[in-house]
Amino acid sequence: MPYQVLIDTPLNDEIMGMMGDACVTHLWQGEETDPALLAQVEGYFTYGHPKVSGATMDKMPKLRVISNFGVGVDHINLEDAKARNIPVGNTPNLVDGATADMAFTLLVTAARNVIIGEHYARSDAFTHYDPSILLGQEVYGQTLGIVGMGNIGTQLARRAQGFDMKVLYHNRNRRPETEAELGVIYTEKEALLREADFVVLTVPMTPETRHLISRAELQMMKPTAVLINVARGGVVDHDALLEALQNQWIYAAAVDVTEPEPLPRDHPLLQQKNLVITPHLGSATQQTRRRMGQLSVDNLLAGLRGEPLLQRVV
Ligand code: 8YV
Repeated sequence: MPYQVLIDTPLNDEIMGMMGDACVTHLWQGEETDPALLAQVEGYFTYGHPKVSGATMDKMPKLRVISNFGVGVDHINLEDAKARNIPVGNTPNLVDGATADMAFTLLVTAARNVIIGEHYARSDAFTHYDPSILLGQEVYGQTLGIVGMGNIGTQLARRAQGFDMKVLYHNRNRRPETEAELGVIYTEKEALLREADFVVLTVPMTPETRHLISRAELQMMKPTAVLINVARGGVVDHDALLEALQNQWIYAAAVDVTEPEPLPRDHPLLQQKNLVITPHLGSATQQTRRRMGQLSVDNLLAGLRGEPLLQRVV
């Protein structure tokens, strides 16, 4: 008998193929989901970022595993899962390289006006070459500030070496090994914000990191600085960011993540020319997403069979 699996978003063919005949999938329709169907669900495969609360879990009495496609599990109430003995799996390590690549891409894109330049180069307004336009911020040799020196932050520091950057970092705990290996310098958050030309956020979303960057923090940054967020939208106070961009407290921002995601289509941030925004593409390479798919399916199947998950959060 195939396992009954709930999915929050239609899965791509590759992941469906990985589940093969072992699972039958049912799409979560929010509050509209048929309670009789939920009563049969044995596994929950979270592919987008739905909120998964204890109340949702309680609608699925046979639920014995939640497998998350991705490393961040801030959308899942881990305490509630733990209290119900439902293991939660995720895909750590696999996303680090691709996400660090994306962070660096956003950094250079915002600093060098790539998006504005691209639109201009295609437009009728581009009638002659003008060396005085779209002068951006230098990247090589500048100071990078990494807030959150986990795996992604470490990969980012490696990339910065190739650009001859000085790297400051802030983290809950110091990382002596990374300091020794990569020459990164531990710095208090406030000093990092004042000194860095580029501030990249790579922290997990927790109650402590909510609005880690708000008005006061943005006002500490250099007027030439660029803020890059590849963590979670909630780490940055969007109202404060809008104010900072409108009043040029900072040069630009680049965000791969927002809260909510997507932003309402009429959100004023979407009108800001000094904002680069992408639709949560941090881990979006064919290779990384394939590896994430395999591990999250393996976690799911292990949980369904009552075996230990390969990567378990709680
Ligand atoms: C995924 C991510 O795209 O791993 C994470 O935490 O944010 C991304 O790599 C996402 O989880 C897929 O829904």
